[in-house]
Amino acid sequence: MNQEMITYYAKRAHEYEKLYHRPERQDDLNRLIAEVQRVLSGRSVLEIACGTGYWTYRLSPVVERILSTDINEEVIAIARSKSYSKNNVVFEQRDLNNLSEFAGQFSAGFGGFIWSHFLLNELPDFLDDFHALFKPGSRMVFLDNCYVEGSSTPIAFHDPDGNSYQHRTLEDGSIHTVVKNFPTETFVRDLLQSRAKEIHWQTFRYFWLLSYTLK
Ligand SMILES: C[S@@+](CC[C@H](N)C(=O)[O-])C[C@H]1O[C@@H](n2cnc3c(N)ncnc32)[C@H](O)[C@@H]1O
Repeated sequence: MNQEMITYYAKRAHEYEKLYHRPERQDDLNRLIAEVQRVLSGRSVLEIACGTGYWTYRLSPVVERILSTDINEEVIAIARSKSYSKNNVVFEQRDLNNLSEFAGQFSAGFGGFIWSHFLLNELPDFLDDFHALFKPGSRMVFLDNCYVEGSSTPIAFHDPDGNSYQHRTLEDGSIHTVVKNFPTETFVRDLLQSRAKEIHWQTFRYFWLLSYTLK
């Protein structure tokens, strides 16, 4: 996760949710929302990289409480401006690497569309650090994009470690190069087998959803 990617999401804040309006993705999104709500229902949730609060808004009605964090104030401002039906949402501007003060306070962790932005060799340390914030038995949920030819932004290049990168263009014409990895089920299960149990991997056409319980 580098500064280029962080700046890109700050600049993209006001146009970010257009991705959720693409007509061909609505069926998948509705199924994804229902499944995420089911898995996290009743939990106290620590959300990382919450962005504009698309998932926060949909989780608030079903969870006990949710602390939603993001490194960029530009996106949190949009998330804060939404009306939440339950008074159970708190936002904090936070780097996901700086959450240790919340250790032991939540029974679930959640991250939407953030997994794909980690370099492959960053994932083990990220998972260990994130998991350390929770007690055994806590539930973790991640969701992200599948690569769909003709729909996804094309992969521009791979680096020698196997990471894939996209060139993303914003409405102001600026172009940003971001890491965007598309994990396989095998890769994810290998990564988690020593760390988790009850691993559920689901793919839809445009998205994947991963949930598991900490050992
Ligand atoms: C693809 S967006 C996902 C937003 C939201 N979770 C969603 O699904 O709509 C990635 C988010 O990660 C945030 N981000 C990037 N690096 C971060 C970091 N080190 N700590 C916390 N948030 C970060 C960006 O600001 C951006 O809002």
